[in-house]
Amino acid sequence: MQTVNINTSKKYNVYIDKSFDENFVNIIKETVFSKKILLVCDNTVKGLYFDKVKSIFTDLGIEVFDFVFRSNEEQKTLSTVEKIYRTLFENDFTKGDTIVALGGGIVSDTAGFAGATFLRGINCLYFPTTLLSMVDACVGGKTAVNTYFGKNQIGVIRQPDAVYIATDTLSTLENREFSCGMAEIIKTAMIKSESLFELLETKDFEDIKEDVISRCIKIKASVVEEDEFDTSKRLILNFGHTIAHAIEKITDYKIKHGEAVAIGMSVITKRAVKNGLCDENTLIRLNMLLHKYSLS
Ligand code: GLY
Repeated sequence: MQTVNINTSKKYNVYIDKSFDENFVNIIKETVFSKKILLVCDNTVKGLYFDKVKSIFTDLGIEVFDFVFRSNEEQKTLSTVEKIYRTLFENDFTKGDTIVALGGGIVSDTAGFAGATFLRGINCLYFPTTLLSMVDACVGGKTAVNTYFGKNQIGVIRQPDAVYIATDTLSTLENREFSCGMAEIIKTAMIKSESLFELLETKDFEDIKEDVISRCIKIKASVVEEDEFDTSKRLILNFGHTIAHAIEKITDYKIKHGEAVAIGMSVITKRAVKNGLCDENTLIRLNMLLHKYSLS
C-alpha cells in the first residue's frame, strides 16, 4: 500500500492499494472512529463495490445507512443534497458521524458538499472508483453542485478526512470514463511534469497505473498545499478548463468533463504556439498523447 500525505489546513492521507482487501480493513480500523456512516454511491457502483465496502464497516461494528442516486450532472444539485440531509436527520446523525462517498467525482462533490454543510461539517471519507476522481476530484477539497447558472457554481473547499483508492475498481470502468481520467492525468503532466508526460507517451498505462496515480496526487497536493483556497497558483490546475466548462454547458454535458478538458488543452496550446509562448513540438506531442488515449 502507498500512502500520500496531504498537508493542507486539515492534514490527511490518501491510501492507494490494489483492492479493498485486508490492507484497507486494517487502515479503516485505525482511522475511522464513528459509530455510524452514510454510504453515498451511484446506482452503477451500488451493484459493483457497495457490498464489499459496506461489509468492511459492518464487520468493524459500524452501523451503515445508504443513499443511492443516479450520478449524472443533472442530479448534482442542491435538491440531491437536501435528500442526503433528510437521510442524515431521519437517522439521527450527529457531528461525530461520517459520510462516505463511494464512486466518481459527481458522488464525492455532492456527498462532500452535504458533509461539509450538515451540522456545519461532519467527517467525510472518499472511496473514488473512477480514474478522474482518483487523480483529481478526491484530492484538494473542492466540493460543489451545479445550478441553472453553471457547473460547480455552489460549493465549499473542505478537505476530506481520508481517501482510500483501490485501483482494481478501474477494471469495470467504461472506455469513455477511462479516457476522461486520462485527460486530467495528461493535464497534470502538461502543467508540472515532463517526466510523467514521457512516461505516458512511452508506456502502457496498465503497467504503471499505481505509479501514475500516486504521482498525479502528489503533484496536485503540492499545488493545493500552496494555494488551498484557490486564489492564485491553484488556477494552474484549470489548464484547458475554461473552454471545457463552456463546451460541457453548451452540449448539455453530452461531452464529458475529461473530453472537454482535452479539447480545451489542445485549443489553448494551439493559441499559445500562435502567440509564440510555446513551441510547436509541444502541441504535436500533446495532440498525439490525447490521440493515444482516445481523446481526439
Ligand atoms: N480540479 C481543479 C482543482 O481542484 O483545483
